[in-house]
Parts: sequence; structure tokens; C-alpha cells
Amino acid sequence: MPQSNGQLRVLKNLLPRHKRKNPPSLQDEIPFGRTQTDHMLVCDYIPQKGGWQTPEIIPYANFELSPDSVVFHYGQEVFEGMKAYRNAQGNGEILLFRPEQNARRFANSAVRLGMQPVPEELFLRCVQELVSVEQDWILPNPGSLYIRPTLIGMDTGVSYRASLAYRFFIIVSPAKNYYKRETGVSVFIEREHVRAVPGGCGEAKCGGNYAAALPALQRARAAGAEQVLWLDGLKRTYVEEVGAMNIMFVYDNVIRTPALTGSILPGITRSSIIQLARDLGYTMEETRLDISEVLQDIESGKLTEVFGCGTAAVISPVIELVDGNKRIEINGGAIGKVSMNLKKTLIDLQFGRGQDNHGWRLAVSAQ
Ligand code: PLP
Ligand code: COI
Repeated sequence: MPQSNGQLRVLKNLLPRHKRKNPPSLQDEIPFGRTQTDHMLVCDYIPQKGGWQTPEIIPYANFELSPDSVVFHYGQEVFEGMKAYRNAQGNGEILLFRPEQNARRFANSAVRLGMQPVPEELFLRCVQELVSVEQDWILPNPGSLYIRPTLIGMDTGVSYRASLAYRFFIIVSPAKNYYKRETGVSVFIEREHVRAVPGGCGEAKCGGNYAAALPALQRARAAGAEQVLWLDGLKRTYVEEVGAMNIMFVYDNVIRTPALTGSILPGITRSSIIQLARDLGYTMEETRLDISEVLQDIESGKLTEVFGCGTAAVISPVIELVDGNKRIEINGGAIGKVSMNLKKTLIDLQFGRGQDNHGWRLAVSAQ
């Protein structure tokens, strides 16, 4: 039944308590994204039935999709990554961090891939309802619950066109750290492939971007690095971003990050750090960063720290760049104090500590 009169109802068909799994605890080993919870949310867009159908929270299970669905052949898929946090003050509150930004980016990504965008209000209600149902799975500070909203084209038939019917679904998983090494990551400078070009879909969060980036990730892993550093698609000279994070360079009190050019994912963590760094008195520059200058500045000691930032990765110090056969250590392989200061400020905000000066926290309410 389609949604009507602005009323957003979410149907719940939940497992009885005795059939639910036991959520893990912080002490358990929890590889990122591998454990899904008991339920998921599904909401279809079906034009013949009036558009968006009533969202349903149902037991986590496989979907049945026809092998000729558009998503399998033409990659009509976009996703988001966000987290729910348990307030660290111990009041039981569940917090989301700037979720309206995810709702907007999800809609923008959908439009870029010729898809029907999920209305932002519907997106936010669905996220809150599922998080509320699965709240026992939110690991306490420093853990969280990772939320993965996804939209796929469901029409069938292999003729090439945009789907008219879509499935919006959300799955959630308990999360600790994204990287196995918590002491900092090694990043591989990719000189062969590019991730995105002007006019392409680099600023959309679509699965296709990540698929095309996999050979570079394989090269990075073979070289002992965790992630790929992407250079711009035209000149292969300017730093863009990392496979799963935006990137920032610290020159004492000045922090530089690549300006958004249209081919970089506009990270919500990135935009938050830009604001928080300014609040803390750092000079923040969104600019063009030539990789050879970056390497020279590391060598001369002018560039003191590098860190990646993203929802899953939070703030991850980059302690090494790998360039072909060269390995370039940053800050003596240690985590820098600016990165640590920003990380603490960001995490405090996300976990409900301190003043929320920018109105970024949203306490989850379900109906
Ligand atoms: N860049 C890429 C390619 C990403 O996958 C991510 C992670 O979502 C980011 C940047 C950081 O974005 P956000 O801070 O919104 O998670
Ligand atoms: C996120 O940080 O939420 C992401 O989507 C990155 C992903 C590749 C794990």
C-alpha cells in the first residue's frame, strides 16, 4: 500500500525473542560488516502501485530477484554508510550523526544513476525505525551500529534502460574498528587506474565506483597496504581521495584537503572535520594537492601528519605511503597529535559528550 497523507508508517514483522541471535560484545572479534542483525528493512517503489510502498521491517533473509534484474546487468545501485551510537553518558540514548546529510547524498546518488530517489523524510524514518528495533546490537563506545541503506533497480529484462521499479533496503551490523591495524594505515598510490573523471559518477556513492576500484585495491593489498590513494583522472597528478575515506594533510597548524571537484565523494566526516578543525583554531584549506609536492613535503618534514576520514574509518592516521617500490614513512610511523585531537573531538560529539554546537546529533525516536 502506498504511503499517503504525509504519514510514514513502518510495518514490523519481527522474530519472536527466542529466535533472535545473541548480539556480540565489545570483547568479541568483530570483522567490519560481516555480522548482520536479525532484521532488515525493505521498501519497494512500484509505479503501478502508486510509488513508494509501506516500508517493512522483516527477518533478515535472502531476496528473491530475477536473474535478469537491471541491477545485475547495468549496475543500477547506490548505497550509504552511517552509524548509530549509544550515548557514552550512560543515559541509554541512541544517536545518529548528521543523518539528513546521508539522506541527501543518497538521493543525489540515485538521481546521478537515473534512479528514483528515496524521499529524505522516508529515508530518515526508515533508518530510525530499524535502528530502534535492532538497538541491542549497538556496541557501546567505542563501538557502534553500522547502517547500510541501499537502492537497487528491480525491473527485469536485459534490454538496456533505467529500471522503473526499485527496492530500497537497509541492513545493519555491529561495528568496532574498520581496519585491523589500529595504529595507522598504509596507503598505496595508484598510478595506473583512475577512480573517477569530471562528469563521471565519482561524487555518487554507487557500487560501480567500488567495483572498478578493485584491481587497484588488490595491487595495494599485494604491496602490504590497506587502501588505495586515487589521483585525478585527467592528469594523474592531484590527490583526490582514498578507497573508503577522504584524505587530509597536516602542515603544523594548517590542514589541507582536496577541494571537491565533482569526482570526489563529498564525505560527511570530511565536512564535519573541516568545521571542527576551524572551531579548534586550525587553518583549514580545501585546495589542489600535487602528489609530488606532497611526497617532497613529507621528505622535508614540512608535512607532519596525514589522515583519512570516513564513517567506517572515523579518523585513521596514514603512517605510510607506498609508491611503486618506495615506502614513505610519515611522522616516524606514529599517530600525530593533530589527528588525535580531531579524532577525540569528533568521537566525543558522536557519542553525546560535550556541546553539540552545530546541531549534528539526532536522538533516535521510533513510532
Ligand atoms: N570517500 C569514499 C570513496 C568513501 O567510500 C567514503 C566512505 O563513505 C568516504 C570518502 C567518506 O565519506 P563519509 O565521511 O560520508 O563516510
Ligand atoms: C563508509 O565509510 O561508510 C563507507 O561506505 C566505506 C565503505 C567502503 C566501507
